[in-house]
Amino acid sequence: MVEAFAVASGKGGTGKTTSTVALGMALADRYDVTIVDADTGMANLLFHAGLADVETTLHDVMVDDGVPVESATYDRFGMSVVPCGTSLAAFEAAEPERLRDVVADLAADTDVLLLDSPATLGSKNAVLPIVLADRVVVVLNPTIPAISDGLKVQEYALSYGSEIAGTILNRTRGDVESIAAKADRYFEGPTLATVPESDAVQTARSEGVPLLAYAPDCPASAAFRTAAGRLSLKDGDSDAVAERFRTAVIPDPP
Ligand SMILES: Nc1ncnc2c1ncn2[C@@H]1O[C@H](COP(=O)(O)OP(=O)(O)OP(=O)(O)O)[C@@H](O)[C@H]1O
Ligand SMILES: [Mg+2]
Repeated sequence: MVEAFAVASGKGGTGKTTSTVALGMALADRYDVTIVDADTGMANLLFHAGLADVETTLHDVMVDDGVPVESATYDRFGMSVVPCGTSLAAFEAAEPERLRDVVADLAADTDVLLLDSPATLGSKNAVLPIVLADRVVVVLNPTIPAISDGLKVQEYALSYGSEIAGTILNRTRGDVESIAAKADRYFEGPTLATVPESDAVQTARSEGVPLLAYAPDCPASAAFRTAAGRLSLKDGDSDAVAERFRTAVIPDPP
């Protein structure tokens, strides 16, 4: 089986990378999980997963005569992690379309693929993870602009046949009932979790350790585990899914 999720938001800085790593670790209790830094222009998953010093990354895969994705895959915290590098020149050399083959290759060998996606919908890099994914997890902050941007991602995803797995309302403080109700009303799929604003999230990031390893018992970790528990996985046939990734038509950004 395999299912691919894009973790996306529209707005920047809502917690996509944090959520990708946390959901990955929570799902790794039950599944074989691979997380991929598909934000190839502004990669920072490496800083969340203790991989800041690795030499080979997704950028080395997404070029002519690139290395196989296995060479850029690292076992960390019970998951397979494919980080991306931070060099501008390497980003410019990488060809976005190659993400299709990367995802297809990974699909052969994992149960769950989580694609940490870029903010906005402004480039091929940004739309590809959403178009390739079976389902999209939309990460929102409890603000109207974040919801508005998330809705554009939803509309785009649905128009290309990707479903909405649900939303994560991240960095909440106090009572968020009215904004949570808005999210529930406007988004397809359930609110997977409400994740509180938490110092542990920031400290974990600066230590280069995923939240669920750094502070497994804090309320934010519990919320991410709840979200993972609500993502009941569908049973995609690995070969068929890989073929779909490989042959996906890449639309122009809106
Ligand atoms: N629940 C939270 N509580 C406190 N800080 C948080 C929380 N979630 C995320 N952050 C912090 O917010 C910042 C942005 O988080 P993150 O990098 O996960 O967002 P992103 O959506 O991936 O950003 P970008 O659009 O730049 O890729 C980080 O410093 C992170 O530590
Ligand atoms: Mg990010």
